[in-house]
Amino acid sequence: MEWNKVKIEAEMWIKESGDILRSSLNNPLDVQAKSNPNDLVTQMDHEIEQFLTDKIKNHYPAHLVLGEEGRGDELTSTEGIIWIIDPIDGTTNFVHQKYNFSISLGIFENGQERVGIIYNVMDDECFTAVNGEGAYLNDSPLQSLTKGNINESIVGLNARWLLKETSVEDGSLHRLVKDVRGIRSYGSAAIELAYVAAGRLDAYVSFRLSPWDYAGGAVILKEVGALLTSFDGEELPLLGTSSLIAARPGIHEDLISYVSAQ
Ligand code: IPD
Ligand code: CA
Ligand code: CA
Ligand code: CA
Repeated sequence: MEWNKVKIEAEMWIKESGDILRSSLNNPLDVQAKSNPNDLVTQMDHEIEQFLTDKIKNHYPAHLVLGEEGRGDELTSTEGIIWIIDPIDGTTNFVHQKYNFSISLGIFENGQERVGIIYNVMDDECFTAVNGEGAYLNDSPLQSLTKGNINESIVGLNARWLLKETSVEDGSLHRLVKDVRGIRSYGSAAIELAYVAAGRLDAYVSFRLSPWDYAGGAVILKEVGALLTSFDGEELPLLGTSSLIAARPGIHEDLISYVSAQ
């Protein structure tokens, strides 16, 4: 496959999806709850996933699609070429803020990274990467990440995870919050991963994410030398959920020691 050509095509479809989302912002939203009252989905999540799935299937009929809203294929293995899409990452932000939401795509071939795209729709920032060819923010190449230090780091973390601490005394996550320079929470895992790649965050930590949340980020992060694993230091699964630490070198190992008790 000419992955650069695929990236250019996919980026075009994702930008078109961004146009659809931006022009939908003043229309009535049909908001439904999924697993709990705070887990939202709208007709736009479905519409964008269908739009992208149709484009992929029309142009690449042999490729497979894994999407959060289930418009793609039911996959049991990572064999073949798989497009993993999150049509809106940060649906809560889309509904409440009309800001800070993204479209995320990761393309994998037999489990190997090929293309990653994360499009921050309202900021019109498109983070892209083709395996082995570097990562970009719009037309500018992203720099390789330098080594960091936990005490001087800005870490992306959803404060809700602090509720998971069994006791505040041995609360390693509370210690982490104290030890780092600052905590940020943007409400879109894909944007937070893109920000790690761009050096705007030094790390991003989450207890439970799905492949569509991190597939795009995985390809982009690899290109800038970031480390991306589960809390156990394992590779992230492309089918199934996982905890996640994404960080610049020098910080990743420290973070694992904070969260390994969780
Ligand atoms: C969610 C966002 C959020 C993260 C959640 C994800 P969604 O994705 O990425 O930042 O904390 O775990 O489920 O549902 O908006 O696509
Ligand atoms: Ca969701
Ligand atoms: Ca998501
Ligand atoms: Ca989503």
